Amino acid sequence: MRRADLTEPDTIGRPSKRLHVITWGCQMNVYDSGRMTDVLAPLGYAPSPVPDGADMVILNTCHIRDRATEKVFSELGRLRLLKERREAEGGRMVLAVAGCVAQAEGAEILARAPFVDIVLGPQTYHRLPEMVARAARAGGAVIETDFPPEQKFDLLPDVAAPQGITAFLTVQEGCDKFCSFCVVPYTRGAEASRPAVSVLAEARRLVAQGAREITLLGQNVNAWHGEAPDGGTWGLGRLIRELAEIPDLLRLRYTTSHPRDMDAELVAAHAEVPALMPFLHLPVQSGSDRMLAAMNRKHSAADYLGLIERLRAARPDLALSSDFIVGHPGETAADFDATLALVREIGFAQAFSFKYSPRPGTPAAGAPGQVAEAEKDARLQALQALLREQQAAFNGSCVGLSLPVLFTGAGRHPGQIAGRSPFLQPVHLAGPAELIGAIAPVKIGAALPNSLTGTLQTPTMQPQERASA
Ligand code: SAH
Ligand code: SF4
Ligand code: F3S
Repeated sequence: MRRADLTEPDTIGRPSKRLHVITWGCQMNVYDSGRMTDVLAPLGYAPSPVPDGADMVILNTCHIRDRATEKVFSELGRLRLLKERREAEGGRMVLAVAGCVAQAEGAEILARAPFVDIVLGPQTYHRLPEMVARAARAGGAVIETDFPPEQKFDLLPDVAAPQGITAFLTVQEGCDKFCSFCVVPYTRGAEASRPAVSVLAEARRLVAQGAREITLLGQNVNAWHGEAPDGGTWGLGRLIRELAEIPDLLRLRYTTSHPRDMDAELVAAHAEVPALMPFLHLPVQSGSDRMLAAMNRKHSAADYLGLIERLRAARPDLALSSDFIVGHPGETAADFDATLALVREIGFAQAFSFKYSPRPGTPAAGAPGQVAEAEKDARLQALQALLREQQAAFNGSCVGLSLPVLFTGAGRHPGQIAGRSPFLQPVHLAGPAELIGAIAPVKIGAALPNSLTGTLQTPTMQPQERASA
């Protein structure tokens, strides 16, 4: 969430209204929360770090697993009290539910939480100012969960609050893959790519505001196939090459990718574009071909291993991350062993793993062979123990190396600065604040479970020229 000076007047001198945004779910939701804040700024809404006394609260929700949905309803219970208190004091708190729960369960939200004023799906954020106006006039709730014909990115404002040294940029949305277990194709709609010109312009703006690393986002980011400046079509590999030409943009990443959309041009970009970082999150979900077929993943374990081989040939120091689901309907002990075998064969620098959670309306939810909860627990523990071991081994292998660290902010203690390694590991060390925004070599001295520490190798090294406004 952005910092805010709560007393700052807006551009035409009115006192700011306070906007509090709570964000769950993936990085695309983080990006979207920023864009909703941007679209409300001209109405006088300034970000507030707390919901107490806010004029508007937006819950940007995630529907990917069951617990994610339940969190929304318990948060709504808490916010109801704040809203009632504000009304008792003669004020008003507009309560909006956005994101994937809004899209999937809009009607249920209004039934279970009738005090909610606005329910809006992820494709309608450009219409938020109009919805706020309607909510102010109307007695009842405003609900917008249709997929509108216009593209929200064409209509969201160009002016955006700065994101900092590391920034997100959504280039692609939606998904046509329909994995058996997943709600995303239903909540985010069909795959759509932003044109290259609009992505490049936004990247330049982010860099002018101080960003030095940009992570391109999409539910299926490597399926990006945007309109090129000459009217043709580019793939993500080409887009990355063009972005890498932007002066002062030091690092590029992209997430999340599907193994099927990893084309030769993108693999080659890993070999040929130095700004493209040697870290890739590439979800595989399972190591069993039987499960991969049941999941409708459209690739086999051997396809995935072959792809990793090509990627490692292109970029030998590539560190890998993945997502795994244990206990998908029909998963046997032998299927699960195949997942462990794949993990052992590849060796991940880090990974996310989840118990299968049935999602209403998805094919797997009603499939036979649902796995008992206790079995899912046991498999998750076994997988996570192996993944933790691999993460510790990977972090340990960095000790003694000199890694280029991009410094992103102050550290936890005075005199400390914090940054990121090329492999996305957080790095904390003693160093001058002037290095923030620059890359400097760090000799890694120790590995903690989720971060690294070390010493600056050339503390006097000049930071990259900052593009100040
Ligand atoms: N687009 C990405 C992932 C999107 S969701 C991809 O294609 O891989 C992020 C992760 O959540 C998924 O990779 C999957 O591991 C997990 N996930 C999705 N639906 C799930 C469900 N019903 N139960 C458990 N985990 C799930
Ligand atoms: Fe979900 Fe599969 Fe699409 Fe990823 S590729 S968003 S897991 S349906
Ligand atoms: Fe969650 Fe929607 Fe992202 S379901 S993971 S917020 S696309």
